[in-house]
Amino acid sequence: MAGRIPREFIDNLIARVDIVDIIDARVPLKLAGKNYQARCPFHNEKSPSFSVNRDKQFYHCFGCGASGNVISFLMDYDRQTFVEAVETLAETLGVDIPRESPGGEKHGQEPNLPPLYQVQEQAAEFYARQLREHPDAGRARDYLQNRGLSDDIISHFQIGYAPPGWRNLPTSLPADQLLASGLTISKEAGSFYDRFRDRIMFPIRDRRGRVIGFGGRVMGDETPKYLNSPETPTFKKHKEVYGLYELLATRKKPERIIVVEGYMDVIALFQNGIDYAVATLGTATSPEHADLLFRYAPEIVFCFDGDNAGRNAAWKALEASLPALRDSRSIRVLMLPSSHDPDSLVREEGKECFETRMAEARQLSDYFFLHLSDNLDLDSIEGRSTLFQKANPMIAKLPKGVFRDMMQARLNKFTGHGKATLNQRQPHRQVQSIQKANTERTKPSMLRIILATLIQKPDFFSLVDAEARSELERDEKAGNLAKKLFLILEQNPSIRCGAIPEHFRGEAEFGLVIKLSVLEDLLSESDARAEFRDTLKSFVSQQKRQLIDQRLEWLNNKLNRLGFSGLDQAELEEYRRLTMRK
Ligand code: UTP
Ligand code: MN
Repeated sequence: MAGRIPREFIDNLIARVDIVDIIDARVPLKLAGKNYQARCPFHNEKSPSFSVNRDKQFYHCFGCGASGNVISFLMDYDRQTFVEAVETLAETLGVDIPRESPGGEKHGQEPNLPPLYQVQEQAAEFYARQLREHPDAGRARDYLQNRGLSDDIISHFQIGYAPPGWRNLPTSLPADQLLASGLTISKEAGSFYDRFRDRIMFPIRDRRGRVIGFGGRVMGDETPKYLNSPETPTFKKHKEVYGLYELLATRKKPERIIVVEGYMDVIALFQNGIDYAVATLGTATSPEHADLLFRYAPEIVFCFDGDNAGRNAAWKALEASLPALRDSRSIRVLMLPSSHDPDSLVREEGKECFETRMAEARQLSDYFFLHLSDNLDLDSIEGRSTLFQKANPMIAKLPKGVFRDMMQARLNKFTGHGKATLNQRQPHRQVQSIQKANTERTKPSMLRIILATLIQKPDFFSLVDAEARSELERDEKAGNLAKKLFLILEQNPSIRCGAIPEHFRGEAEFGLVIKLSVLEDLLSESDARAEFRDTLKSFVSQQKRQLIDQRLEWLNNKLNRLGFSGLDQAELEEYRRLTMRK
């Protein structure tokens, strides 16, 4: 396990990236007043109530109440984990993530990652060089030429050649890392041989460009046709795809990404001007694949062979992608004519024809019902009930939203069943949350105003004096939050609003911190500081008054029970003083 990511690093990231850029790249924003706006990506609406505030580095939707900082956005919108969100931000800034050293030394079962990337990078360079220089590489170059690959494409994908023979990888590469990356195989203790021999080599990179594994193709009819790196700490086939880095190197924001089955399909499409395809790595499309690809494009086109195996693969891919299919994302399925794969088809027909096919490809919604009602007689009750039973649980896997409602409505229409299953409850809930959001905007308490102001304008912390601080910390409900907040503000004088929730993530106060971060209409714009000071003063005296009231109530109680003789001298004195003050 890698160590924890240091807190300061996260604060620093949030200070350096701009939430407006990060969100705008995913949900185009418009400047409206001092905020940026869009239609909310988390619920369905006609007019924009989603707003992003650059000063605060925070977003908030007045419609559904979704809100948070840039990390929350990446987690909720891109469905990233916390660590992935941090990685994404680090990537945009081009910085590496430092790790605090983990508790104890690990016993070598998980090799250090960076060396593993390094050794594979060097191996990729080695293979590429062999393709140019090795005496036996002529056959490999001929093979690639016969398949129509240009030198540019060969170098764009860094295609290489693993020479024949058992041990060719440079001895300068550390043996343990070679073994850990699967580039060599251990025969018996201490002796190794190369996994890839006499094969065309395709380095596989993650989206950040690091080499994580290889695919190697034979040039004749030997088997296996393709040999891939084994699963290693860097190579997780269900999470990675071939060609994404190469795609992103030419298109930052593709309109769609095509998913195909083979390395050569990606490369051939690219060479024919369709430079937005990726391939799964000899595995079925997984939910992680779909999540990954939807981060970069709103549409995925699955493009599989027209045979039975291709149809099965398409259906599996579609099932795996359902949970990622939020509104505004779409999936199409392009089934190729039998006996063609994308490589052969694009060579035969060219770019335009291929793209026309794609434009005409079935939308998921059509494909879904067509596939499921294959072999079913929808005129019979049996057929309709089978369709309902197959489709209903799958529709339930779709994220809530208009698309799901419409799929459900269509299923109900086809089968004449379950009219009220999904689409009734949902709008209702939306209305409720909007109503709730509206009532929450009635005047917040002084305590809320103070804490929210400090979160939103951390530099106001200097206005909090010792007395106010101790009153705030004493508060029954928010005291813990206040204590923690003050420590954070003390230790990070230049912290911005958007970084504050990170200090609370995973703790009980996190939700409240988010709410306070987006609370509106706290202080008048013109005289915020003075007003804040007044609010603090009023709060302190309110707290004191409350304390007096409580004490008086207690004394009064005692008096009622025992009469004046029941109070001792000090209590009598206190009673007189307190009633006087009131
Ligand atoms: P195909 O057999 O359809 O090959 O395998 P292809 O992509 O058309 O390759 P060419 O055109 O003959 O060169 C599709 C994918 O399945 C995986 C590979 O990822 C390949 O790209 N595969 C196939 C293997 O992993 N091992 C194999 O032996 C064959
Ligand atoms: Mn092929």
